[in-house]
Amino acid sequence: MQRSLQRKTPLFDALMNYIHEETIPFHVPGHKQGRGNEFLASILGKTTLAMDLTCLEDLDNICNPKGVIKEAESLAAAAFGAENAFFLVNGTTCGIQAMIMSVCNPGDKIIIPRNAHKSAIGGIILSGAHPVYIEPEIDPFLGIALAITPEKVQKALELHPDAKAVFVINPIYYGIAPNLKEIVNVAHSYNVPVIVDEAHGAHLSFHEDLPLSAMEAGADLSASSTHKLIGSLTQSSMLLHQGNLIDPEYIKSVLNLTQTTSPSYILLASLDIARREIALYGRERIDKAIKLAEKAREELRKIEGLYILDNSILDGHSRYAFDPTKLVINARDLGFSGYEIERILRKKYHIQLELSDLYNIIALVTIGDDESTINTFVKALKEIVSGRQVNKVVRYFVDLPKISEQQVLPRDAFYGETRIIPLEEAEGEISAEAIMAYPPGIPIICPGERITKEIIEYIQLLHSEEAQLQGTQDPQVKNIKVLNQRLVLLQNQADSIQNENVG
Ligand SMILES: Cc1ncc(COP(=O)(O)O)c(C=O)c1O
Repeated sequence: MQRSLQRKTPLFDALMNYIHEETIPFHVPGHKQGRGNEFLASILGKTTLAMDLTCLEDLDNICNPKGVIKEAESLAAAAFGAENAFFLVNGTTCGIQAMIMSVCNPGDKIIIPRNAHKSAIGGIILSGAHPVYIEPEIDPFLGIALAITPEKVQKALELHPDAKAVFVINPIYYGIAPNLKEIVNVAHSYNVPVIVDEAHGAHLSFHEDLPLSAMEAGADLSASSTHKLIGSLTQSSMLLHQGNLIDPEYIKSVLNLTQTTSPSYILLASLDIARREIALYGRERIDKAIKLAEKAREELRKIEGLYILDNSILDGHSRYAFDPTKLVINARDLGFSGYEIERILRKKYHIQLELSDLYNIIALVTIGDDESTINTFVKALKEIVSGRQVNKVVRYFVDLPKISEQQVLPRDAFYGETRIIPLEEAEGEISAEAIMAYPPGIPIICPGERITKEIIEYIQLLHSEEAQLQGTQDPQVKNIKVLNQRLVLLQNQADSIQNENVG
C-alpha cells in the first residue's frame, strides 16, 4: 500500500465538485438536493441532502465502474491487500449472497459451517447451492459454536472433492477466528476457492495483534463490513477479491443481479473516506481500541463470578485466534442470562450492547470509543453484578440444540409446497423457513431441516427470555412453515443428502 496515494478520495471529491458546480438537477432523487424536503434537510443538514445523488456521468456508474468509483475501489483494494474491491451499498448481506452466487450454480456443493449468518442461507437459496455443513465445535461453558478447523475442512473435501467453495467466518461474532491460512492451504490443494464472511473483520489487516484477515491468509473472496467496525455509514461494505480461482468480471455480473442501480452516493463517499482514514490512521486508532478493551477486561476480571473472554482460551484449533476488541462477558456463575444483563443495561443505564444470548453479552469496543465510554460501561456492569453471590447456580443448563438432519436442499424447501402450523406441533416436520435470534442471526433451524423436539424447546426458552426471534412469516415466531410432503416424495432426495454433515 502506497501511503501517499491513500490520501486521495476520488469519489468523494467528484461528489463535492458536482455540488459546488451548482448544476440544476432534472434527475432523481426527486427531492433535488434537499429543495423538495426542507424538513429532512433541516434535520440531516443541507450538505448531506445535496450529496444524496446517484449515478451520473461525472460520478460513474456502480453497475460498470470506469471512473471515480473504479478509482476509489482500486485504492480500497490496495489498502486492504486485495487485487480488486467492489463497493456495496446493500450491506454485507449482498456481498455474501454475491460470493455464493459467484461460485455456485444450482446444485453445486458448498462446504459451509452450520453457524453461518442468515445471509449465507439466503445466498444458498438464491443460488440453489447444496450446502455440505461443517458442524463447528461447541464451547459448553459459553454455549456458542466456535470456528471451523483445517482438519474438518480437509475431511469435508475428502468426502466432497467436487465442492465449488469453502465458506469461512472470520472471525465469528464472539471474536474467535479460525486458522484461516491453513484452511486456505487445504482448500487450494483441491483447487477449491475460499470465500469469507468478514462482517466482523473489516479492521483485521490494520493491526498486528488481530487475527489474520482473509486477504492476508490468501483467501479468494471476502465480504467485509466496512460499516460495522471501521467508520463508513450503515449498509456500506466491500467485497474483496484476489487470485485466479474466481473471475472478477463474473463477480461484477453477479453483483448486478442483486445490487441496486441507484446507489446512495452518501454511502459510497463514506466508503471512500473510511478507507482513507483506516489506511492512514488505522493502526493507531485500532491500537487505542485494543488498549481500551484490555483496560475494561482488567477491571472486570476483578469481579468474582464474571468470565471475560481473552487469549487464554486459544487452543490452536477451533479457538485459533481472538479479536481483543470484542468484550465478551459471561455471568452464568452469577445466575444471569445475557438477555437479562442487556435489558438492565439498556433500561437502567441507557447502555446498548451489540449482542446478548442465553449466557453471554458482547460489547464492541471500536475506533469510536474513549476512556469515558469504557469507564461508564465498566461501572454499570460492576453495579449490576455487585449484589450477586457466586453460587454457581447456573440459570440454564441448556446446550445449543443438535444440528438437525438436512432432508431437502434449502432452495427446494423454500419454494416447496407448504403449510403453516404451530411451532409446538412441528416436531418431525421439515422446515421451509429459518428461525434465528437476531443478533447473532445464526439459524437454529434452516429450510430443509427436520424440526426436532429439542429445537422447539430451545426456541420456546428463547421466547421466555424475550430474545428477538425472526425468520418465519409469522412475526410472533409461534407458527412455522413446513413442507407438505413430509416423507414420501422427499425420500429420494433425502437419501442422497442425509448424514453428510461433517462433524
Ligand atoms: C456474521 C455476519 N455475517 C453477515 C452479516 C450481514 O451484514 P449486513 O448487516 O451488513 O448485511 C452480519 C450482520 O450482522 C453478521 O453478523
